[in-house]
Parts: sequence; structure tokens; C-alpha cells
Amino acid sequence: MFTPLIAPSILSANFAKLGEDVDKVLEAGADIVHFDVMDNHYVPNLSFGPMICSALRKHGISADIDVHLMVTPVDELIERFAEAGASMISFHPEATLHLDRSIELVKSFNCKVGLALNPGTELGILKHVLHKLDHVLVMSVNPGFGGQSFIEHSIDKIKALKQMIDSAGHCVRIEVDGGINKDNIGRVRRAGADMFVAGSAIFNSDDYKSTIEGFRMEMTKQ
Ligand code: DX5
Ligand code: ZN
Repeated sequence: MFTPLIAPSILSANFAKLGEDVDKVLEAGADIVHFDVMDNHYVPNLSFGPMICSALRKHGISADIDVHLMVTPVDELIERFAEAGASMISFHPEATLHLDRSIELVKSFNCKVGLALNPGTELGILKHVLHKLDHVLVMSVNPGFGGQSFIEHSIDKIKALKQMIDSAGHCVRIEVDGGINKDNIGRVRRAGADMFVAGSAIFNSDDYKSTIEGFRMEMTKQ
């Protein structure tokens, strides 16, 4: 069983004071920084690119940066983000023509590699690549925007994925992304997830520390 990790999505951070806001959320107890990259092509929204990632590194952020690519194609940006200081890179299987090649590309930069599965994407896509992954990112909203409601069916998908990973004997984290808050994080944890992305629930709260502590408390409940 992996130690659960809290990964605030900086999509909901204060962009005008990004470095300070990321410092603040890490001091409040967050484990890693979730970095949502949107290209107005794979998803209907535009966020930020590798220059912002390297700016955070130059600012002094030493925590892992978990880059979630919602872009197509992916290979060129994998390289740019690896150079910009990404620790982990995930992408959507529909966004690349050569899934195995893109996975190997992430690994070639010594970054952890993940595949991001949309709510409508079958777990079957993992069959021939699961053993190569460090994490699978289960989208519990459709990608493109923060602040959406958690899709309940994601719980069943996480349970099925957990079973798939355990029965194959692989060591792969399950990351969940979208609509996570204190009312659902306990159930999501019990379903088998161990990395929790939360944007609006953390950055729109008055006190990051008590929000993150509240998340950890909910996860200890049976
Ligand atoms: C959605 C992004 C998420 C999102 C999470 O496309 O991948 O990371 O920003 O935000 P909340 O927690 O507000 O759903
Ligand atoms: Zn994300």
C-alpha cells in the first residue's frame, strides 16, 4: 500500500502570485504540485507551458512536479517539460499515435510516467503497458476545467483498476483527478486511489492547512 499523496492542482492557484501560492500550499502540507497543461486542442481550454514549470523551479520549488499533459501531440512537450524540471509526466493515450513510444520517451528522461484515462476511456488500453507505468491517472471529471463535479462511476473504475494492478503484481500508483473534496476523498481512498489531485477544494479554501489536514483525516476513516 502506498502512502497517500495530496497533489494540489495549480490550475486553481493565484496566477498573479504563483510562486508564493505554491510555497504556501506546500508549507500547508501538500506533497506534490499538480501541473495541468491544456492546449485548446485536445481540451477546450488553455493553461500554461514549460516556461512556467521552469520558473517554479527557479523560484525554489523542490517538491515533485506532476505534469498532466492534456495536449496532442505529446512527444515534443514531454521533452520540453523534462528539461523544465518535471518529476512525473502523464498524458492521455488518445493524444499520441504511438503509446509505447511516448511512454518510453518519458522514461528516457528519468521522469515517472503515467497514463491519464478519461471517464469514457476503457481500462483495457492499459493491458500491454501497465507494467511500464509508475501511475495511472483516473480522471473523475472530463478534462479541461477545474471546479467540476466528481463523476461517481469513477469509484467503480478505481476499484477495477486496483484489482487489475494487484492481480498482475505491479507496483503502480492510482492517481485520481477531478472534483475531489472532503466529502468524497475517503471513499476514493478506500476504492484504492493513493494520489489525490485537488484544485478548487484547496485553493478556494481560506486555510490550505486545515483543508489538507481534513483530507488526511477523512482518508483514515474506514
Ligand atoms: C481537469 C484537471 C484537474 C482539475 C482539478 O482537467 O486535470 O487537475 O484542475 O480541479 P478540481 O479539483 O477543481 O476539479
Ligand atoms: Zn490534472
